[in-house]
Amino acid sequence: MTARTPTTTPAGGAGTTGMDGAAGRDGTVAGTAPPAGLTLDRHVNAADRAVNLARDVLTGLTANPRELPPKWFYDAAGGMLFDEITRLPEYYPTRRERAVLDGHAGAIAAACAADTLVELGSGTSEKTRLLLDALRAGGDLRRFVAFDVDESTLTQAGRSLIAAYPDLAVHAVVGDFERHLSHLPGGGRRLIAFLGGTIGNMRPVQRGAFLRALREQCGSTDALLLGTDLVKDPDRLVAAYDDGAGVTAAFNRNVLTVINRELGADFDIRGFAHVARWNAADSWIEMRLRAVRDQRVTIDSLALAIDFQRGEDLLTEISAKFTRDGITAELADAGWAVAQQWTDPEGDFAVTLATPSTAPSAAPV
Ligand code: AVJ
Repeated sequence: MTARTPTTTPAGGAGTTGMDGAAGRDGTVAGTAPPAGLTLDRHVNAADRAVNLARDVLTGLTANPRELPPKWFYDAAGGMLFDEITRLPEYYPTRRERAVLDGHAGAIAAACAADTLVELGSGTSEKTRLLLDALRAGGDLRRFVAFDVDESTLTQAGRSLIAAYPDLAVHAVVGDFERHLSHLPGGGRRLIAFLGGTIGNMRPVQRGAFLRALREQCGSTDALLLGTDLVKDPDRLVAAYDDGAGVTAAFNRNVLTVINRELGADFDIRGFAHVARWNAADSWIEMRLRAVRDQRVTIDSLALAIDFQRGEDLLTEISAKFTRDGITAELADAGWAVAQQWTDPEGDFAVTLATPSTAPSAAPV
């Protein structure tokens, strides 16, 4: 995909392109002007989204085994389901990461003295406030950059942050962090936060490429704050991805709803069961959708019919779990030196602060 020139909406500017007439797909907030203080860059519009979804669905559903990238969970409904997941008793990562930030945001702020907080995959930017408060207390904070694939989530989060932090310049960037990293707003001393364990959605090769690409975007005064879930008892891991209330199952199936709506497909979402399993060899949780009977699915936009056999799986997400040493080694490989690493008291989740080290080795891929 060619990256396009972003649509930028300066604070309260007249005659600029606001969110009116924005992406226009279901789930976006239509017809609302961005509030003063919010700058919006859009690197993914509705057409890009449609093309990317079509390509991923065509590639993934015709592959053996079948697979879909997890980013397509997150339309407005999927974002709300994920929010619900973070409050489930079984889903510990969000609470554990919040415990780390609760305990150490001051130390993180002191170590990086950033004037800009950049959050990748920011979602609702909820935990971000702990970091913003600590940076503000340090006196340097000027700007918050939120980078997320879903525009409706971003603008909602941006709106509430502007209300809570009136002196903060909030810059929302709609993009895919595997493709648009080079469009991250620069300048100042940046703390780039990639929290929640989202890096675990990538396979090791992708993680390396991503961390190297990020390293290339960073100067010597920038820092990376990386949240990663840690390896633990498989029963707890599986329970976190297969909750009793069935919220994760609904989240998993939501990708089928997205494909139905956006590509004119006819998935019967009751025809697929939610499966979560621990893959010890690869050290990741797998979420799958398993066909409960033989069925044919047609996808109008792709002029494609796919036959699922009963018991056949579609892999919808991997969520890798790490060790502290493994994180340090992966970062080192990509040109990052670990400055400090914290975990919650139970040792469930790690937050790592890293700074650019040597020039990264030539990017593979
Ligand atoms: C937001 C990607 C970190 O992998 O734990 C939660 C997504 N999937 N439950 C994770 C998710 C199922 C989550 N991340």
